[in-house]
Amino acid sequence: MSYILILYYSRYGATAEMARLIARGVEEVPDIEARLRTVPPVSTVCEATEESIPEAGAPYANLDDLRQCAGLALGSPTRFGNMAAPLKYFVDGTSSLWLAGDLREKPAAVFTSTSSMHGGQETTLLSMMLPLMHHGMLMLGLPYSETDLLHTASGGTPYGPSHLAGADSDRPLSDSEKRLCQALGRRLAETAVKLRGAD
Ligand SMILES: Cc1cc2nc3c(=O)[nH]c(=O)nc-3n(C[C@H](O)[C@H](O)[C@H](O)COP(=O)(O)O)c2cc1C
Repeated sequence: MSYILILYYSRYGATAEMARLIARGVEEVPDIEARLRTVPPVSTVCEATEESIPEAGAPYANLDDLRQCAGLALGSPTRFGNMAAPLKYFVDGTSSLWLAGDLREKPAAVFTSTSSMHGGQETTLLSMMLPLMHHGMLMLGLPYSETDLLHTASGGTPYGPSHLAGADSDRPLSDSEKRLCQALGRRLAETAVKLRGAD
């Protein structure tokens, strides 16, 4: 069964919750499934290593998860207006896939969570697209036919779903943030299935 890889980093759980909702959207589409994967934190002590299996949540991603996916949703909490280092560290290790063109013509999308309303949702989303475009992936956002975009009072952007987690990073996802996550999952899965049919 082909799958959409939902690859994310999450420190406090908000981005992980978004990832699960995107997976739910993917699973609404026949003939394709969702695969959730995360990445370990990175340490300022270069020698520090994590256990190969996380204590809880999605397994850690490996390059094969990415190489064999039919599409990708990449998610990160916003860190100083950009993606978090653990996810960037993983992405920086994907040169072999870039050289082989393994991700070319595959649909991809991005999602993020911030503490503050104007703390960089769009900058993070747009900058997360850059390495995926270098890989030749086909970037998808959210169209305004998702009418939640017209009324956002927290997260939700045409560049991808976002979430306003609040100063303590404990604000639950709003209903419209949830719907936009699911809509993105559906859109990615439908696009991947269509592209596969066009092969
Ligand atoms: C080092 C660091 C930098 C951060 N930078 C920002 C920022 O630029 N804008 C913002 O709104 N939130 C910022 N935050 C807050 C995180 O975005 C917030 O905790 C996150 O959205 C929670 O997601 P998670 O539950 O998936 O970890 C920062 C947090 C850390 C630890």
